[in-house]
Amino acid sequence: MAVLEVLKAGNPVLKEKSLPVAEIDKKMRRLLDDMTDTMKKYDGVGLAAPQVGKLIRVVVIDVGKGGRYELINPVIVKTEGKAVDSEGCLSVPDIFGEVERAEKVTVEYTNRWNKQQTLNADGLLARCIQHEIDHLEGRLFIDIAQSIRKGEPK
Ligand code: CO
Repeated sequence: MAVLEVLKAGNPVLKEKSLPVAEIDKKMRRLLDDMTDTMKKYDGVGLAAPQVGKLIRVVVIDVGKGGRYELINPVIVKTEGKAVDSEGCLSVPDIFGEVERAEKVTVEYTNRWNKQQTLNADGLLARCIQHEIDHLEGRLFIDIAQSIRKGEPK
């Protein structure tokens, strides 16, 4: 159990592209646990490894109602529709923006036990998956938002 430091926008690490994970070992599972602790500590619904200074393709998500996922090397293989909604990010505190995303996505990934998984997602989960995978490409939501505002989540 450990809460990690979350890097903030302006840190050049957040602009870098992350590398695929080659081996899923005890150390990787420890990182997943620490990322989940960090996400919960700061009330996030998702966190990507570059946000804690690790340029590897790892994401944790918890959108509530059992929607908890650990995605290693995630790849979106199918998208459907478009939806615009509000987003925030633990790396961009107190800023929110309207972002267009695919409405539904199918994502393939590896889980912590090295098993290949396929997930069909819509709503907040689909949005979160796309937001977190953007982090792995060095892209923040403020780079692609239609509009940005300071203040509270809606
Ligand atoms: Co984010």
